[in-house]
Amino acid sequence: MADLITPMALRVAATLHLADHVAAGVDTVPALARATGCLGRPLGKVMDHLAALGVMRSDRGRYALNDLATPLLSEWDELGIRPMLDLGDIAGRTEMTITHLLHTVRTGQAAYEGAWGRTLWDDVNETSVPVAGLEAFERNTASFGSELVVEGYEWSAVNSVVDVGGNSGALLQALLAAHPHLHGTLLDLPKFADMAAHNLREAGLGERSTVVGASFFEPLPTGKDVYLLSAILADWSDEQAVDILRNCATAAGPVGRVLLAEIHLAPAVEGDAVERSMAALWIEASMGHPDRTVDDLKALGRTAGLDVVGQARVSEVRSVIEFKAVR
Ligand SMILES: C[S@@+](CC[C@H](N)C(=O)[O-])C[C@H]1O[C@@H](n2cnc3c(N)ncnc32)[C@H](O)[C@@H]1O
Repeated sequence: MADLITPMALRVAATLHLADHVAAGVDTVPALARATGCLGRPLGKVMDHLAALGVMRSDRGRYALNDLATPLLSEWDELGIRPMLDLGDIAGRTEMTITHLLHTVRTGQAAYEGAWGRTLWDDVNETSVPVAGLEAFERNTASFGSELVVEGYEWSAVNSVVDVGGNSGALLQALLAAHPHLHGTLLDLPKFADMAAHNLREAGLGERSTVVGASFFEPLPTGKDVYLLSAILADWSDEQAVDILRNCATAAGPVGRVLLAEIHLAPAVEGDAVERSMAALWIEASMGHPDRTVDDLKALGRTAGLDVVGQARVSEVRSVIEFKAVR
């Protein structure tokens, strides 16, 4: 249960693209050491462990791939497995943060902050960490009960929506596709904004959308009808969440609405007891506030100067709460 050797050997293999090299015929330890800029002695021990595990096989100093090595190949990346094991990739760095679970238990902060001293989002935007893994990892289709946002709200009366923290644009794409009269503005930090602009253009929605690379801790574009926050607040403390909501309230003004569409993953986790407790710990370690209830969220809105409009809509994994600024 507690062994870390095999998980780390697999990550070293993924990070150094060892399977790609072997597949390309670089199949001895000296050749692999040259190709990866590593030292033969320790690298040989990694290769021997991979062979002992059956990931590779060795024959008189030459290695070959077994089927188990397939997820380590770059060309098998549609599911993003190799980047998630790559210690230099943002996705791999995120996976590794579970080794800082103690930081979460002691402080309530996401383990990422304990591991790297900054939030995941700052890291993505401010460092040169490759984002390839993140792109593979980010959802390119709206999910987590997003139909409650797309179909469960009266969009016919709305002309313009700002998707605040809109990420890859998957949800905005679904919204614009389902409601052809709607214009969308996506706001996210610059790297995600670039990714979203590309995705929206590719989807033929460039004309009906505007993308803004900015922080939601700064003033937001004003005068739009709806300010949507989907799966945002769980990453932030109560004080920060209130700041984000207040920025939305200010931009929405007296007539606009703030639509808070949080995801409630923790109660929806399936599987046996160990799978459920593992998932619950992963969620806990990944974000600062995964467990806010609808009442908690309404209370945050009230602190930010927002009144709840009507009933919250709730599905298994989502709640959608409509607010307007208190007059
Ligand atoms: C969990 S994702 C939610 C994505 C999307 N709204 C959805 O429903 O799937 C959180 C998003 O918040 C963005 N974000 C984090 N800090 C931000 C900031 N200061 N300003 C704007 N966006 C930010 C991240 O880049 C990321 O895209």
